[in-house]
Amino acid sequence: MRRTSSILSTGAYLPSRVLANAELEKMVETTNEWILSRTGIRERRIADEGEFTSDMGARAAEQAIELGGIDPKSIDLIICATCTPDTIFPSTACHIQHKIGATRAAAFDIQAACSGFLYALVTADQFISSGVYQTILVIGAEKLSSIVNWQDRNTCVLFGDGAGAVILQHRPGARGVLSFDLGADGAQTEILSIPAGGCRVPLTPEVLDQRLQFIQMSGKEVFKYAVNAMNRSAEESLEKAGCKPEQIRWFIPHQANQRIVDAVAQRMNVGLEHFVINLDRYGNTSAACMPIALHETNMAGKLDRGDLLLMVSFGGGLTWASTVLEW
Ligand code: UT7
Repeated sequence: MRRTSSILSTGAYLPSRVLANAELEKMVETTNEWILSRTGIRERRIADEGEFTSDMGARAAEQAIELGGIDPKSIDLIICATCTPDTIFPSTACHIQHKIGATRAAAFDIQAACSGFLYALVTADQFISSGVYQTILVIGAEKLSSIVNWQDRNTCVLFGDGAGAVILQHRPGARGVLSFDLGADGAQTEILSIPAGGCRVPLTPEVLDQRLQFIQMSGKEVFKYAVNAMNRSAEESLEKAGCKPEQIRWFIPHQANQRIVDAVAQRMNVGLEHFVINLDRYGNTSAACMPIALHETNMAGKLDRGDLLLMVSFGGGLTWASTVLEW
């Protein structure tokens, strides 16, 4: 029988600074009405200048460690999902390892944009099911405010900063991750990307002038692709787990746009009351969305042992990911 992995505890961290839509009205040509009606976002959190992805990831991790009642030195592996690493290398996971004192842990980052956390969770599940590791810290952390073009109203209203974390373990009797689906379409790299800063387009004064070091997105194309891919992936994970949508207590979708969530819910024929939504307060925090939403659901006492959850995400790459897990 497969050695299962399940979530022992969760944690999250959101910077205290709130950037409300009204403030954005003073920065670019936009309105609260447009942002709210087109996205559902009211406000987002912005990290301080000296507060980095690893700081937020470490805060979320420390909470998960405390709530799980474990010693950081018992952690075998840290996987951090992020597309806003502190440094290109060393990995953000290494920075976090030092900050939380998880001196025994191996550490690496995963980059699958907004799908990163679920890619990381599934990777961690493989290490546990193979019997190699017992305790893994999985983090999604982003400082998206550092890669947003604050002059581009098409994108700057959408994103926010934050971090979430889970401790994954094999626990006898707990079924945990039941199924997953991961996918990518590398033919669509151009519709959501940061063109410069890698070896393809090195940073030069001209490149910086053109603001190519920031997120660029064809919103409409990404929107359509997201709805289709999230539905397909969710169905795949449900089928692999042998579950019907009506058995799922909580759907945790990627928090990009309320209209995307509405379309996914409608296609799955599931009422919105079964969907966890916090994008109104945090906007799109990319890889951090899933663990933050999971942690808030957990802290609100809305998770009972045996509950089934479906998490589904979508992002640059293009990438998508989903999992059905038993709490
Ligand atoms: O996490 C990764 C995945 N990302 C996503 O899933 C994002 C997917 N895309 C979306 O959520 C939506 O496409 C957006 C929210 C980005 C845009 O909504 P839309 O309904 O697709 O609007 P649009 O891009 O077609 O723009 C409609 C109009 C345009 O004006 P014209 O050309 O019709 O005159 C835009 O220039 O709205 C304008 N617009 C704005 N107006 C006021 C775009 N951004 C803004 C803004 N404020 N912030």
